[in-house]
Amino acid sequence: MSAERVGLRLTAWADELSTVSAGSGKSEPPKGRKRLGMVLDLVSAPGSTDLACRTAAHSDKEALAALMLDAYRGTVDYDGESLEDALREIDHTLSGSYGRFLSGCSFVLDGEGGLSAASLVVLLNEGRNDETPLLAFTMTRKRDQRRGLASALILRSAASLSQLGHSRFSLVVTADNVPARRLYDRLGFKPAR
Ligand SMILES: CC(C)(COP(=O)(O)OP(=O)(O)OC[C@H]1O[C@@H](n2cnc3c(N)ncnc32)[C@H](O)[C@@H]1OP(=O)(O)O)[C@@H](O)C(=O)NCCC(=O)NCCS
Repeated sequence: MSAERVGLRLTAWADELSTVSAGSGKSEPPKGRKRLGMVLDLVSAPGSTDLACRTAAHSDKEALAALMLDAYRGTVDYDGESLEDALREIDHTLSGSYGRFLSGCSFVLDGEGGLSAASLVVLLNEGRNDETPLLAFTMTRKRDQRRGLASALILRSAASLSQLGHSRFSLVVTADNVPARRLYDRLGFKPAR
């Protein structure tokens, strides 16, 4: 898979999010994957739990790419991307191609031999009426899944966004991604109206 196609996916997510936040809550992206926009009301969001995580830094780029590949491989969102593709995707995210990267609201958890989990946030449509922080990526490497790590990191991101004065937190999820949808439902994300 080419880097362009990987990059296009998140760009498409951002476009879809603008569409779904203004419209039906559902959209049909290229490649036939149905995606859903979801929003968390930060005023009523659950509080964050204690976890020894830290904010994501540009120096985490390689580790984030390795984490991305491990987490996504074998899921409905994986199209055979390589480590190089993942690296480009992370590079696009951190460098602001999808909206300003909010490093202070993006968290990683260090694990043995690399990163265990990450929650990466960008600011979509900055300065416009529909400006919203977007959860660009949440990922937990396979051996560390089902231990509450993604939940804890997303709630840390939500708490940081709230402290900055944001009132909502958006994301777009592939309709068939059952683990992610359960995770977001549990955290209180609702379909975008
Ligand atoms: C989705 C993902 C981030 C979840 O990470 P995680 O650290 O395992 O999530 P948590 O442990 O916080 O899970 C919280 C809840 O989400 C749901 N959930 C998580 N993984 C699940 C799975 N494989 N199947 C069903 N439900 C799941 C469960 O309700 C879980 O609570 P429980 O374990 O008490 O039942 C992880 O599976 C992943 O990295 N997937 C690949 C990348 C991806 O698809 N990201 C989302 C893109 S929008």
